[in-house]
Amino acid sequence: MSVQPQVKPPFSRTDTKQSEAESGSYPPVEGFLMALGGHTQGVGRTNEAGSAADFLPEERSLSALKEAAAGCRGCRLWEIGTQTVFGEGTETSRLMLVGEQPGDQEDRAGRPFVGPAGRLLDQALEEAGIDRADTYVTNAVKHFKWQARGKRRIHQKPSWAETAACQPWLEAELQVVQPQVLVLLGAVAAQSLLGRQFRVTQNRRQLVESDLAPAVTATIHPSAILRGDPERRKEELAAFVGDLRFAAALI
Ligand code: URA
Ligand code: SF4
Repeated sequence: MSVQPQVKPPFSRTDTKQSEAESGSYPPVEGFLMALGGHTQGVGRTNEAGSAADFLPEERSLSALKEAAAGCRGCRLWEIGTQTVFGEGTETSRLMLVGEQPGDQEDRAGRPFVGPAGRLLDQALEEAGIDRADTYVTNAVKHFKWQARGKRRIHQKPSWAETAACQPWLEAELQVVQPQVLVLLGAVAAQSLLGRQFRVTQNRRQLVESDLAPAVTATIHPSAILRGDPERRKEELAAFVGDLRFAAALI
């Protein structure tokens, strides 16, 4: 299939309306309690529908965006995350990869995909013949959402409202980098940009019709391989590598 280059921006943002019910659902109360040092006032009330849009800088460069994102208060996740984990890579990258949100190690390091999922991604990229140094790697949501379980911080899926609140950063990254190929890793990234009805499992390793980039495709998230059945891991990893090869061929 030939891919028609398209003029960007503008690109469409789909389905980012937040429902009342969702913007009010904010599970990591334990995380809050820890972050607030035991103060409970106000915890659990998160109905304000904020947005990162209020924090975007005028200058559109990756360094200006990253600096501004460090002070983002567009949703309440900044209260429990250690720091904003912005995307990483150069403005000239032809391939952009978008994950869900930073994990425990990314939250500490301030860099995307440096923990277990990142190591698996690195391995898969290498097998697919893609040099990570040539890519731009980022996440749909830029703060780590977690819940305490004992001493561990357990990943919590960001809500639709949080994903929508954070989307201006991703849009700005897309505007600056203008990748030839956009690879969405997992349902959160894919649905945030392609709509909630999008199903990664049914549409992986295919070109998706979208004006986000000349070529847009989605695949599973590497964490899904880590969490999945160990007996199927080799097979799942091979399929993931195949999806990345498909993306590499579009560059
Ligand atoms: N999972 C993600 O989606 N992103 C990261 O940066 C790390 C783990
Ligand atoms: Fe801002 Fe995104 Fe962090 Fe929310 S998750 S505070 S919108 S950077």
